[in-house]
Amino acid sequence: MARNFQILVLNQISQAGLKRLPAEQYTVGKDIAAPDAILVRSADMHKLDIPASVRAIGRAGAGTNNIPVKAMSARGVPVFNAPGANANAVKELVIAGMLLSARNLTGAMRFVTALDPKDPEMEKKVEDGKKNFAGYELAGHTLGVIGLGKIGCLVADAAIKLGMHVMGYDPEITVDAAWSLPSQVKKANSVAEVLKNANFVSLHVPLADATRKMVNEQSLEHVRHGAVLLNFSREGVVDEAAVLAALDAKKLACYVCDFPSPHVNGHPQVIALPHLGASTREAEDNCAAMVADQVRDYLEDGNVQNAVNFPNITMPRESSFRIAIANANVPNMVGQISTAMANANLNIHNMMNKSRGDMAYTLVDVDSAVPQAAVESIAGIEGVLAVRYLPA
Ligand SMILES: NC(=O)c1ccc[n+]([C@@H]2O[C@H](COP(=O)([O-])OP(=O)(O)OC[C@H]3O[C@@H](n4cnc5c(N)ncnc54)[C@H](O)[C@@H]3O)[C@@H](O)[C@H]2O)c1
Repeated sequence: MARNFQILVLNQISQAGLKRLPAEQYTVGKDIAAPDAILVRSADMHKLDIPASVRAIGRAGAGTNNIPVKAMSARGVPVFNAPGANANAVKELVIAGMLLSARNLTGAMRFVTALDPKDPEMEKKVEDGKKNFAGYELAGHTLGVIGLGKIGCLVADAAIKLGMHVMGYDPEITVDAAWSLPSQVKKANSVAEVLKNANFVSLHVPLADATRKMVNEQSLEHVRHGAVLLNFSREGVVDEAAVLAALDAKKLACYVCDFPSPHVNGHPQVIALPHLGASTREAEDNCAAMVADQVRDYLEDGNVQNAVNFPNITMPRESSFRIAIANANVPNMVGQISTAMANANLNIHNMMNKSRGDMAYTLVDVDSAVPQAAVESIAGIEGVLAVRYLPA
């Protein structure tokens, strides 16, 4: 008989995701005492007492800093996220950001809003005033993309389609990302090279030690006169004081960002949006659907896709009897696990083991039902963090 899984949701999760968990197999709710998995968006889980029953956490979004990932790794619990599910939403906002600045749209809209519709001269004032907002077109200008991951690649592709020249910088670009880039994208070898050559510079790196304040006083020395800097990455990837100085010196024409910090907000050359990058219906649906599928695949079959702390591993079922083991990545674990199975008279039909950093994960299909004693003996091996028996 199929197992019933209990799913605790800590935030409003899109129906597009929840309906991937069939009601006959899944009980989903906000008051589940012993959940098998937790689905979360931005709720802070650091102070939460996460029940021992939890086998997986699914974050319907990209960042996982609201989740105690390290503590979950120590318990052998994967934390899934939805990389790329919001990339199109961010890409479209970046294009909007370039247009907002190139066509002076925020100033133009403020000008129109301030006109009195009852003023008989209003239409004349519109015609007289419009010269103050004349802009330029994106086509023919150069966009520099820093960070060519899920979002950066889509931005580069869209800009090429709009007739722009594109250069990209990403020293750690993945093979998949490189394949997905249009051939017209030129490779830059440094942030400085991008700043020197681009009319628009768009940042798409994660915030990490290596990227903190990557646009700073030194790199802005190279910036092309009148360039527009777009930051839909994170506030901390630019040195805001240096950006403001470059704006005041008119080296930078405009800073378009998704992070209206007290430093930049209100500056006349700043266009700041309220962290809207991923705020679309479609992105929320995509994230929820992706993460629900991944959690379901893990709970039912032990497969792992897009966990931030586990290796990716998918093994098609060849038997109804599967064991999934999370263990420390130390020598002789597979040997000890195989011995424990042999001692329980279990014949291994298929086995897959992968590791990532300190974490290793093993899927084993066996030819017969697994007694609870065998599960317990594997769980007792030093270094084993979690064991699950997954009968089909
Ligand atoms: N504004 C928003 O609402 C919003 C929404 C989603 C994501 N984001 C931000 O966008 C970032 C990128 O998202 P993604 O989905 O494209 O991530 P991703 O992991 O697919 O891509 C990040 C890319 O940055 C590259 N990179 C890392 N360090 C670099 C460095 N020092 N120089 C150049 N490139 C470097 C990586 O190699 C990778 O290709 C996220 O980390 C997040 O901070 C913002």
